[in-house]
Amino acid sequence: MTLAAHDVAYLRALVARNSGNQLDTSHDYLFESRLQRLIRARGFPSVAHLVAALRSAPGSSLERSVAEAMTINETSFFREPAAFDLLRDSLLPALIERRRGCRTLRFWSAACSSGQETYSLSLLLCEHFPQLASWSIDILGTDLSAGMIARAAAGRYSRMEVDRGLPAPFLLKYMVQDGDEWEVSPVLRLLCRFQRRNLCTSPALMQPCDVIFLRNVLLYFPPATRDRVLQTIHRSLAPDGILILGASEQLPSDAHWKPVLTPRAVWYCPLSGR
Ligand SMILES: C[S@@+](CC[C@H](N)C(=O)[O-])C[C@H]1O[C@@H](n2cnc3c(N)ncnc32)[C@H](O)[C@@H]1O
Repeated sequence: MTLAAHDVAYLRALVARNSGNQLDTSHDYLFESRLQRLIRARGFPSVAHLVAALRSAPGSSLERSVAEAMTINETSFFREPAAFDLLRDSLLPALIERRRGCRTLRFWSAACSSGQETYSLSLLLCEHFPQLASWSIDILGTDLSAGMIARAAAGRYSRMEVDRGLPAPFLLKYMVQDGDEWEVSPVLRLLCRFQRRNLCTSPALMQPCDVIFLRNVLLYFPPATRDRVLQTIHRSLAPDGILILGASEQLPSDAHWKPVLTPRAVWYCPLSGR
């Protein structure tokens, strides 16, 4: 059964309400394919039946499952490597120097999907900054999708996933093979924790972070939502902290963020007053 236009419009509005994601109308056909797994799991004969159930119980947990099923979870280890190179070669050495007194560093991989970004940060620290072994390090990975957070916390990846971005020496050193899968080693896991978190509705973190990765997620939000999320990010970042966006994303120039251009990548430093 093909979805009626009013059902598609209903789903689009539901997704915007629950995740802030503004789905392009040219992608309407994706509702049918992306919701297949959910309708099978919940025993609905078709997506139209799922929509009927949603309409009869507005605000139910089923809404959240639909919004989560419609997220794009594309990610990989060391995705857009220029950002990791910039951290390793210049941003982190300077930050470590500034934090020498408190010996604490906090990282937030906001919208971490299945966790590869979070573990890439952990690996970067373990491999290149052994002096941090005696520091207090916290790497928080968060995502809207409960399914993605469960995958991230499990830390198990297929051959294809580890082949995407993880150099062979790191695979052997930091992952343990278990059948067809590879499991993240305890040394990397120790620094990481994961939480489900909706960037559009959650307050700022209690403890400000030193580095926030907010990559490849802002593009799904309409301008007003993007601005609200950036306010929360600003409040969650230390005054001398570092914000890193996706390679194809940039902030409109405003009074709250200063873009710092380097030959490899751009990063953003928070300006005061938010
Ligand atoms: C394309 S992935 C990006 C993953 C990773 N940051 C990277 O660049 O490889 C986008 C992620 O954003 C998450 N997301 C979408 N809307 C969100 C929201 N409102 N709050 C938190 N995460 C959200 C999705 O679940 C998805 O896992």
